[in-house]
Amino acid sequence: MTSTVEHSASVPAQADDLIFDIRNITLRFGGVTSLNDVSLRMRRGQVLAIIGPNGAGKTSLFNSLTGVYSPQEGTIEVRARLGDSATSVIGQKTHVVNRLGVARTFQNIRLFPALTALENVKVGVETRQKSGPISAMLGLPRQRREDRESTERAFELLRRVGLQAKANDIAGSLAYGEQRRLEIARALGTDPGVILLDEPAAGTNPAEKRELATLIKGINTTDGVSVLLIEHDMKLVMSIADRIIVLNFGQKIAEGTPEQIQRNPEVIAAYLGSSADEVGDAVQAQPELHRIDTAVSLDELTGQQGPATGSATSTGATSTGATSTEEWKA
Ligand SMILES: Nc1ncnc2c1ncn2[C@@H]1O[C@H](COP(=O)(O)OP(=O)(O)O)[C@@H](O)[C@H]1O
Ligand SMILES: [Mg+2]
Repeated sequence: MTSTVEHSASVPAQADDLIFDIRNITLRFGGVTSLNDVSLRMRRGQVLAIIGPNGAGKTSLFNSLTGVYSPQEGTIEVRARLGDSATSVIGQKTHVVNRLGVARTFQNIRLFPALTALENVKVGVETRQKSGPISAMLGLPRQRREDRESTERAFELLRRVGLQAKANDIAGSLAYGEQRRLEIARALGTDPGVILLDEPAAGTNPAEKRELATLIKGINTTDGVSVLLIEHDMKLVMSIADRIIVLNFGQKIAEGTPEQIQRNPEVIAAYLGSSADEVGDAVQAQPELHRIDTAVSLDELTGQQGPATGSATSTGATSTGATSTEEWKA
């Protein structure tokens, strides 16, 4: 049982209204249960935030929603784009889930550090194009047209995230907050119906956090992309989330509006045992909650191979390091 205020109880959601319909998923790694019988629904058009202490299972949830992990129990259905029929996610490859309209960014930034900002975004855009490697090699007309289109679209997206002046800079040379925005641009390049942002504000300064809040809100309202957001910065969460779900030790302990969550005694206890007003401040004051890196990279955890493309390899991947082909597409 959760102390949830279930929106689904009072207002029955239309099936088409749901981006994700997650039922009773349990994910175990040996003796560790990182998600324990979690059910949640995400409605189209929302900014839905997932909060909870470190190790609560937030990133595991994202990995389950994008095909990186396969929960042993439960079901996940996605209808990322309006009018889509429901597709089951569990067991699908990450690039397949991405093509269904689910894009993400990573808690540990994953860019192609040796490519330019523009090229990083083009990689995202080109996942949606038709030309295969043969027509690309031969420089066939369709490929040339698609290359022009993907360059234009990538520029547009760099402008969208405020990085147009950095288009030709090497991604690895960008400031931390810029790399986080570049990752968002690349994710948007895949033309998603929903974008999953894993701690996008981690490691950024207060001015960057404010810009990021405006950007995320804009992606939701102007661009019409639903947003699933993992974030520790309570000020940011409370200012942009329509709804919040709280995870603790792999379980959903609460769900509701920002106001309801701030007043929820279980949430307060799970975070710090302090008063509601103090939750936001205290969460921000805990340095370990701002840790950028998890202990191991996803590559190590999943044993996935590095990308086939020459300029980025997954060996020695660091927090700002390279991407595996499977992962960046998700
Ligand atoms: N690939 C994995 N192998 C073993 N344990 C894992 C793996 N992925 C996540 N976990 C464990 O699952 C729990 C939740 O981790 P995570 O989802 O990263 O939490 P959060 O993102 O909320 O900090 C942790 O105990 C973590 O060690
Ligand atoms: Mg995490």
